[in-house]
This record gives sequence, C-alpha cells and structure tokens, in this order.
Amino acid sequence: MWKNLLDWIEYRIPMMRVANMHALQYPAPKNMNFWYVFGFLATIVLVNQIVTGIWLTMNYVPSAEGAFASVEYIMRDVDYGWLLRYMHSTGASAFFVVVYLHMMRGMLYGSYQKPRELLWLFGMFIYLALMAEAFMGYLLPWGQMSYWGAQVIISLFGAIPVIGDDLTLWIRGDYVISGATLNRFFALHVIALPLVIVVLVFLHIVALHEVGSNNPDGIDVKRPKGSLSEDEKTKFQIHEYYTSKKDILDDIVPFFPHIVLKDLVAFAIFLIICCYIIFFAPAMGGLFLEPPNFEAANPMKTPEHIAPVWYFTPFYAILRAVPDKLLGVIAMFAAIVMLALLPWLDRCKVRSVRYRSNLHKLNLAQFTVCFVILGYLGLKPATPTYTIMAQVCSLLYFAYFGFLWLYSKNEKCKPLPERITK
Ligand code: HEM
Repeated sequence: MWKNLLDWIEYRIPMMRVANMHALQYPAPKNMNFWYVFGFLATIVLVNQIVTGIWLTMNYVPSAEGAFASVEYIMRDVDYGWLLRYMHSTGASAFFVVVYLHMMRGMLYGSYQKPRELLWLFGMFIYLALMAEAFMGYLLPWGQMSYWGAQVIISLFGAIPVIGDDLTLWIRGDYVISGATLNRFFALHVIALPLVIVVLVFLHIVALHEVGSNNPDGIDVKRPKGSLSEDEKTKFQIHEYYTSKKDILDDIVPFFPHIVLKDLVAFAIFLIICCYIIFFAPAMGGLFLEPPNFEAANPMKTPEHIAPVWYFTPFYAILRAVPDKLLGVIAMFAAIVMLALLPWLDRCKVRSVRYRSNLHKLNLAQFTVCFVILGYLGLKPATPTYTIMAQVCSLLYFAYFGFLWLYSKNEKCKPLPERITK
C-alpha cells in the first residue's frame, strides 16, 4: 500500500526523481574534503535560525517600551526561553563562522571561476542579505549596543552627498532611532529578509547542481551533467547510470551515503561546539553578546566604546581606517564588491591553490591574515597605533585583488593531474 501511495504521488509530482537527482544520487566528486562541509552546516544553521526565531517571536514585543522587558521575560519566565534565545544568538555568530569558512574554501579551490560565477554571485547576495538580517536582528533586544550600534551604522548613509540626510530619515522612519525604526526592522528581520535568504539559497543550490561541484583539485570531473536524457532522469535509472559508466564512477560518488556521512560527522562536532557555547559561554566573553547590551537602550547615554558584533568588524576597521567619512563608506562597500568580482579578477586557468604559483599562495595567505587582523582591530578603540595597523591591513586587503588581477593572466602553475587525486 505504501509503495502504491508513493507511486501515485510520483506520477503527479516528481518527488523521488528530484530527491534522487539533487540529494540522494547527486554526483559528488569523491575527493571532497572537510572544507566541503560548511555549505551543509550553513543550511542547518539557517533552519535553526528560522525555527528558534519563530518561537522567540511568540513572546517578543516589538515596541520601544516593551522590547527589552520582553527579552528579559523570555530569558527568565518562558519555559526554555533562555535556550531558544541563546540558540538564536549563538546561531547568528555560528552562521558567519561557517559562511566565512565556506567562502574561504571557494577562494582556496577557485570555486568562483568559470562555470561557477553565478553560483558565487548568488553566494555574495546571500552574504549581503545575511549581514542586513543580522544588523536588523541586533536592534531588536533594544539594549544599549543595539541602539548605539544602529545609530552609528545608519548615520553612515548620511555621508552620501545630496540624498544622505533624507536617506537616513527614510531608513529610521523618524528623526532619531525610535519605536518606528524598531517596528520596521522587526518586520524585515522576521519575514522579508528570511524569505529573500531562503529563495537565494534555493537558487544557489540550483546553480551549483547545474554545473556540478568543484573539488580540491579544481579540475573538471567526469559526471553525468545536468542535461541527462529524460530516460536517465527517471527514478531508478540514475543509479544504473552510475553503475554502468565505470569512468564516471572513478571520479564521483553518490551524495548518499558517502557525502552525507562526512557531513554528519562534521555536524556532530559542530553541535558539540555550539552546545558548549550555548550552555557554558553564551556571551562568548562579549563577542557574541556584548556587555552593554544587557542594559536597556538609553538615548541620553552613549556607551564609552561602540563596536559592532565581530562578524562586521573587518569592514568596520576598513571604514575607520579612512580619515574621510564618505571615502571610508566607499572603501567599506568596495571591500565587499571586490569579493563579488573575484570570478573576473582572477584570470588564471588553474583553479585550485594546490597547483597555483607560490606568489598566489603568498597573496592568499596575506589576505587571510589581514582579514583576521582587521576583524580584531574593528573590535578595539581607534588608537593611533591601531589606526595605522588598520590602514596597512586595508591596503593589503585591496592589494590582494589588484595583484591577483595582474599576475593571474600569465601565472606559472604546476601541471594539473589527469584525474582527481585523493
Ligand atoms: C546561507 C548561506 C549559504 C548556504 C546555506 C550555502 C549552501 C551551500 C551548499 C549546501 C553548497 C554545496 C556544499 C558545499 O560545497 O559546501 C554550497 C556550495 C557553494 N557555495 Fe554556498 N551557501 C551559502 C553561502 C555562500 C556564500 C556567502 C558564498 C560566497 C560568496 C558561497 C559560495 C559557494 C560556492 C562557490 C559553492 C561551490 C563550491 C564548490 O563546488 O567547490 N556560498 N553552498
């Protein structure tokens, strides 16, 4: 009876066919290593954020008068409210940890290069939407840092010539950050942006599955391409396709169970780390939840030192490194645009760092170190020494892209292997 029901559904919507093509039998390169788990982990965190977010919304009050107290109420009186809130706040930081590592993998193995440019761009749009989502979410507890952090970031738009002042007014919906701002940020945070992110993630996966996954060797693998014949697409034949084409089987494995098992190991480790943070160090020493945010927002009292949450700090440090406000804002946005342009700035025919020149390895290493240092500097007060350090690191950050464009055209790379290695 069960089989009959499944067949009945399958005849009407291609449930198993889609599950086979895009999950169970998805042809994955067999040399995928640990860098390849972060896409899966990002998906898990996305689900966590949506589910815990829905439950938090059940008790959260989106008004300037009620927001802070409702968060306290969730923490103290709602059954397991503290757990929901810490899962959500830790999830926000965990999201950026896995997304940064996920992007790093793309840079290591040249996954942004042809034919994956659009996949990379969808990734960059997800990243932007994620930053907007986190920024708006941070205002909701209505603590001191929520208020003053938002004040600093929104005022940046004021640096734009001509329209700056009107634009900040339009974003805030008031002359100062107020209940009106909180209301609109709440609407965007709980419904508009999550929808955008989910749609973008769907497109990201569709784009990935059309061209296939890259791999640590960065060479094309033999795989059944997106354009399978109608016959091959049917329920069971994909499996037969695999087993009948020996040369393809040398390069790829079906996603289930091979990659799923690897992903589950990563998930177990990730869960242990997250549980440790949620149960023993939810504020992460002020990194995930900043101390001033345990105090209700007070428009009459500016905190001594305003710093955004750690995942924004590399770009915040670039902003502060430039003495002129408008130029600083331009530099900050340019730093993100540069990442989006990588598929066109990198003109090398070889994808993976494994076979690229020492110059490229050095350039990528310096970029990574500078990004981390900028992240640290963005958390600290802008003393003269820190400012000079931030200026040097900002220059090196941009130099990565400039150098890459210059040397990648005629780069001396190592010979590529015929087939993928282990
Ligand atoms: C919500 C955030 C994101 C989710 C849920 C997500 C999900 C995924 C998944 C499930 C995969 C396949 C598994 C893997 O290769 O790890 C993938 C691949 C990929 N993602 Fe993302 N992603 C996200 C953000 C990003 C961002 C911000 C970028 C870069 C700008 C990006 C670039 C890529 C690239 C280039 C690949 C293909 C990698 C390869 O085949 O070597 N993704 N993503």
